[in-house]
Amino acid sequence: MAEALLETEGLTRRFGALAAVDGVTLRVERGSVHAIIGPNGAGKSTLLNLLSGELRATSGRVRFRGEDVTRAPPDVLSRMGIGRSYQMANLFPELTCAECVWLAAYSQMGDTSQVGDTIKTWCPLRYSARSLFRPRREGAEAAARGEDALRACGLSGRRLSRAAELSYGEQRQLEVAMMLATDPELLLVDEPLAGLGHDEARMVLALLREVAEQRTLVLIEHDMDAVFAVAHTVTVLVDGRVLESGPPAAIRESPRVREAYLGEEEP
Ligand SMILES: Nc1ncnc2c1ncn2[C@@H]1O[C@H](COP(=O)(O)OP(=O)(O)O)[C@@H](O)[C@H]1O
Ligand SMILES: [Mg+2]
Repeated sequence: MAEALLETEGLTRRFGALAAVDGVTLRVERGSVHAIIGPNGAGKSTLLNLLSGELRATSGRVRFRGEDVTRAPPDVLSRMGIGRSYQMANLFPELTCAECVWLAAYSQMGDTSQVGDTIKTWCPLRYSARSLFRPRREGAEAAARGEDALRACGLSGRRLSRAAELSYGEQRQLEVAMMLATDPELLLVDEPLAGLGHDEARMVLALLREVAEQRTLVLIEHDMDAVFAVAHTVTVLVDGRVLESGPPAAIRESPRVREAYLGEEEP
């Protein structure tokens, strides 16, 4: 069996009486694309937030590279190599693509509090990309990483465009670029194709697939064709619990899964 990069054991998160994630035991193999599917409200996003450290588990464990990280906060997990995509274009609409990826890279390399100050100082102004790229070693390194990420995501030509000016699909590419700029070993992505048109979705999916060649990807996605096209393993979550987990072909054929979830989509 391939090595587990990430494992959860009985992972549970309650919101009052509701167990949004309820005793989830998962094994994400190094180098795999592991998709998590399930109906709305199944607990997919909550699970991802537990894996990225944004939410605290009520009980259960998370192990990354064999190390217990159940209580680790997001910045620690980020430095350990867990990256997650945020809708950053919404957060920093005034920043250029180059600045966004620089910030992502720098925040992961350096002191996050400094970056917070950096943003506060610069956001109300309209700083040029040059002023942000301070001649500091880490700054230059972050810039180089950022440019690599932009290139990998096909956004080099947009490096001086502000995030707000990008198309919706390009903003998704930028989110992936920002995640890549932190050079993660494990990527956590929540519904990256949501709201995209057919061509844009195909582009972002191709990008994720490319990115996943070198890394491990946990992908929450609604688009079943996309999931079955890229995933090595599919876990089906229903009411916070794992209904089934296995290779896409087995999941597609599973009567339980068809009944609980896929069946809804078939005529
Ligand atoms: N912060 C929260 N407080 C209370 N309930 C929440 C919170 N986040 C999610 N939930 C509830 O947990 C359940 C799972 O939500 P979520 O993880 O967003 O599902 P999914 O991403 O699969 O659609 C839902 O019933 C949702 O209403
Ligand atoms: Mg969700």
